Amino acid sequence: MIEVTRSVGSEVGRRPVIVRTVAELRTHVDAWRRAGETVAMVPTMGALHEGHLSLVEEGFRRATHVVVSIFVNPTQFAPHEDFQTYPRTEGTDVEKLAGLGTDLVFAPNALEMYPLGSVTRVEVAGPALGLETDFRPHFFSGVATVVAKLLVACAPDIAIFGEKDYQQLAVVRQMVRDLMIPVEIVGGATVREADGLAMSSRNAYLSPRERVIAPRLVAEMRRVAETVRAGGDAASALATAKAALLAAGFDRVDYLEIRNAVTLAAPSETGEPLRLLAALWLGRTRLIDNIAV
Ligand code: PAF
Repeated sequence: MIEVTRSVGSEVGRRPVIVRTVAELRTHVDAWRRAGETVAMVPTMGALHEGHLSLVEEGFRRATHVVVSIFVNPTQFAPHEDFQTYPRTEGTDVEKLAGLGTDLVFAPNALEMYPLGSVTRVEVAGPALGLETDFRPHFFSGVATVVAKLLVACAPDIAIFGEKDYQQLAVVRQMVRDLMIPVEIVGGATVREADGLAMSSRNAYLSPRERVIAPRLVAEMRRVAETVRAGGDAASALATAKAALLAAGFDRVDYLEIRNAVTLAAPSETGEPLRLLAALWLGRTRLIDNIAV
């Protein structure tokens, strides 16, 4: 039997300190800095699952302290989206984080992050163009704005984001470069259920029937990647996968596309690194996923 050991902080089992203001967050981080210690930040919207916890573990592999932010960011939701119903589970989130020895949880309210009168937003382009933006035009500006605020508030040495949201990770890397925020951005590998479904807080929306259908997405994506790797025609592999997913019970394909893995532009030369990215609707749940080709 393989024994799996987790990378954890020194205070496993102790409830993390919860702070709700930027001033308190800075007091803790400044004290660590003065002691010569390093800080990793894991920004989240809560409803934590094994995918988030793996990012916390990555934080402890790279820094002395891990700060997890829990904030359901209103500016990345359109009015018709699930901001009101997004799962809010702070109590169980904090218990899970205590299990890894997480030092600090930053859980501000909306007024702390967006004080009355705040109007500045981060405008994004480059890797933000296309894919998610075609369907959620507001999304990356909201993400980039809140991530910039979180990074400025906490000033961590590194910040860790899941590769599950691959385009988001590329947008954050670009934003940090462009705004010259002194932080290293680290991508954490997607964590999957035993049947391949990428872990996501929104999987909680799936009905039992939809939960059975959902892993077909990554199965079809793996088939496309294998075909392309073997020199097969990408366009027909993608068309076949879309048809198979709709036949399996998916309701709509927002996109299923192969892009340059770094720039997310349409592929243009042979030998460039490629990524297959997808977003599909299954009932009222929008599943997104991506894999290397
Ligand atoms: O990926 C998420 O959970 C969110 O988009 C993030 C990065 C925490 C910003 O609100």
